[in-house]
Amino acid sequence: QAAPVITVDGPSGAGKGTISHMLAATLGWHLLDSGALYRVTGQACLIEGVSWDDHAAVTDIARHLDVTFTAAESGEILVAYKGRDVSAAIRTEEGGRGASKVAAIPEVRQALLARQRDFCRAPGLVADGRDMGTVVFPDAPVKFFLTASAEERAERRYKQLISKGESVSLARLLDDIRERDARDSSRKVAPLVPAEDAIVIDSSGQGIEQVFDLVMQKVTEKG
Ligand code: C5P
Repeated sequence: QAAPVITVDGPSGAGKGTISHMLAATLGWHLLDSGALYRVTGQACLIEGVSWDDHAAVTDIARHLDVTFTAAESGEILVAYKGRDVSAAIRTEEGGRGASKVAAIPEVRQALLARQRDFCRAPGLVADGRDMGTVVFPDAPVKFFLTASAEERAERRYKQLISKGESVSLARLLDDIRERDARDSSRKVAPLVPAEDAIVIDSSGQGIEQVFDLVMQKVTEKG
């Protein structure tokens, strides 16, 4: 590995995204949002008229994925496919479903592997995902696995979507989260499991600042 990597894995809604952002900003390191790559792949399929179930065609899209990440002044990261801004589209519930579907295709994961490793540049990388510590950066010196109860993750997601003006039902979100958890943790390739050497943190009932303090404490200890 060209530079040190801190991996942050876990299910959706556990606070990985926020913690990874805070960590990268505090350390001044690069950030890899690997979920965004799967989300863009799913979105590209919609744009190109390819079914998420057509494995050969989805793999072809992943291999040639024309995606760019640019930091907006707000600090938000804008995601574009073929130069077209898809930042909002990939964050919808449909975007999440597409990502989870295409992420279950082994050839798609393989196609995105080198691209993810390219993010590892000096001075360091914070890698956010599901298999960062197990598959993509197995040699990372510091690995986290963030989790929270399904109910709490559904509630957090609910608040997020409502604040964006999406109309959703909490019960439906909880069902979706359980279904996605089951799919992500039972798939044959890169299932969602903590790396053997990962520090597991359950964020249920904890504020983000509290979780971040704990993460920073561990990083300082290890570094
Ligand atoms: O993290 P995020 O919610 O954006 O990820 C969307 C979906 O992409 C996940 O539900 C998962 O199926 C897939 N994913 C993955 N491996 C990663 C990151 C995301 O399979 N490293």
